[in-house]
Amino acid sequence: RSGGLRDQHGRTAVDLRVSLTDRCNLRCGYCMPPEGLPWAAKESLLTDAEVVRLVTLAVRDLGVQEVRFTGGEPLLRRGLEDLVAATTALRTPAGAPVRASLTTNGIGLDRRAAPLAAAGLHRVNVSLDTLRPDRFLALTRRDRHADVLAGIRAAREAGLSPVKVNAVLLRGLNDDEAPALLRWALAEDVQLRFIEQMPLDPQGAWRREDMVTADEVLAALQEHVVLRPVASSVRGSAPAQTWQVEDRAGTTGTVGIIASVTRPFCGDCDRTRLTADGQVRTCLFSTSETDLRDLLRGGAGDAELAAAWRAAMWGKRAGHDIDDPGFLHPQRPMSAIGG
Ligand code: GTP
Ligand code: 5AD
Ligand code: SF4
Repeated sequence: RSGGLRDQHGRTAVDLRVSLTDRCNLRCGYCMPPEGLPWAAKESLLTDAEVVRLVTLAVRDLGVQEVRFTGGEPLLRRGLEDLVAATTALRTPAGAPVRASLTTNGIGLDRRAAPLAAAGLHRVNVSLDTLRPDRFLALTRRDRHADVLAGIRAAREAGLSPVKVNAVLLRGLNDDEAPALLRWALAEDVQLRFIEQMPLDPQGAWRREDMVTADEVLAALQEHVVLRPVASSVRGSAPAQTWQVEDRAGTTGTVGIIASVTRPFCGDCDRTRLTADGQVRTCLFSTSETDLRDLLRGGAGDAELAAAWRAAMWGKRAGHDIDDPGFLHPQRPMSAIGG
């Protein structure tokens, strides 16, 4: 069989997310315990050449149009600039350039934004949950708040725009910061998005009642600004729902909410994932994976690899079932899936 990454529910994946490492230099409480996690052994990780081979296959034979590099923290991967350059040099069968983007915690981006832009990177999304250095330290267990802010500015100056900033609000820790974060984002000319926390923490401690919901965030923002929904069709397959913002001083911009739990968007999902150790995941919440690394190292040709990837995606579930009593928290933590 040939063709794209279709599934039984009528969706086609055109957006590939590649995790480049499971390691991170922060320890956000909802993602990692203070001591870190048992990291994948170096030999188990795809090499740069293997990543390029699979990304090339995805673009040439499987219909992938966009590639996002994630982690762990993808800036910890030394060859990132070369991977970006190899990706953006690819053309789809229709001749279109491949768009490459990055999701990062921003540490080190102050120095690498310009080289990444030069390598052809289109956009970055940076995670930032608080504007207060003391809270940043409490949330991430590292005193790197200033580095992240410097990274965000460098990304904007390097033309990696729009820079999107991802914030997860946690009850009792930073859930009072939504209006301040939005004010800051409008002033910095970055697109802020609030993300509902999903059950992907390694401790399995997530509880729906503790999650700060999209409706709560919207209500908090509306005490300070006017929000006008951007037609939902504009969301397309991107996870964020977007609002136009106007504050009392007349400053305008947009804000997004990624309501994975209370307003799931699985019906429009166009994603396929590759973990740092070469497993295809059809969904953040997959309970099984397809091993492309062993196939590749065993000498499989492109046709065989493509067939395995297509077969994996055909079995993608309709949605995440977080609200079902039988929901299974994935074995792999978010840091090893790639967000
Ligand atoms: P854009 O193309 O810029 O919209 O990227 P993105 O929002 O897809 O990527 P990013 O890595 O910034 O992800 C932001 C948040 O969305 C993270 O918390 C992700 O876990 C969540 N997210 C990304 N992809 C999916 C997905 O396919 N399903 C669900 N449920 N959440 C996702
Ligand atoms: N739920 C929602 N978002 C999460 N992130 C990490 N863990 C979770 C979770 N359990 C976010 C990070 C980052 C993005 C890649 O995913 O804050 O912004
Ligand atoms: Fe796609 Fe799975 Fe996310 Fe739903 S939960 S949007 S199916 S990756």
